Amino acid sequence: MATRAYFPTLVYSAALQQRGTVAFNQRLLRECRQLRVDDVAGRRWSRQNYPGGYTSYGSQHRLYEISPTFEALRKLLQPHVSAFARSVDWDLRARRLTMTDCWINIMPQRVVHSLHLHPLATLSGTYYVQVPDGAPGIKFEDPRLERFMAAPPRKHACREHNRQWVTLPAVAGQVVLFESWLRHEVTANTRRQERVSISFNFSWF
Ligand code: NI
Repeated sequence: MATRAYFPTLVYSAALQQRGTVAFNQRLLRECRQLRVDDVAGRRWSRQNYPGGYTSYGSQHRLYEISPTFEALRKLLQPHVSAFARSVDWDLRARRLTMTDCWINIMPQRVVHSLHLHPLATLSGTYYVQVPDGAPGIKFEDPRLERFMAAPPRKHACREHNRQWVTLPAVAGQVVLFESWLRHEVTANTRRQERVSISFNFSWF
């Protein structure tokens, strides 16, 4: 093998827990919907920044501080965060990698979440609470894209590790983790049912 893969972009996905997913997601879903009802400021923020959808990003972004259910999620994420940190060989001895934000995203039909990254964070991710069959996954963009310049296009049947965009399917009960500089988006929810996820940032400071 003469060709090596240097500088890979690592994305982690796994089931959050082995048992109790359905009941846990029902609790989360109830709280997500209740917060949408209660969170006037968040609904106003979403009208400006997330048309047709609801996110608590602009209003309630530290849900683990106000809800035991979200605090339970934070705890359940910890071993996954540690596994990701090991996979990228982060040396975290100097400080703790700590959850600094955690917010709700509810995407009704036709709502999109356009391409973005998570500034001022180290590790970001999403936990899927409710994903209708056929609802979009999370689409990642090759972080080297602006450097390709005169590179030829990739074949249609390009192998996954050579693709410039990769979509990881969204599955209820699964957690996805990636470094916060990795740009990503969610294309339009084509289904009638709402796609509900919880996103979060961990920071090392
Ligand atoms: Ni995001």
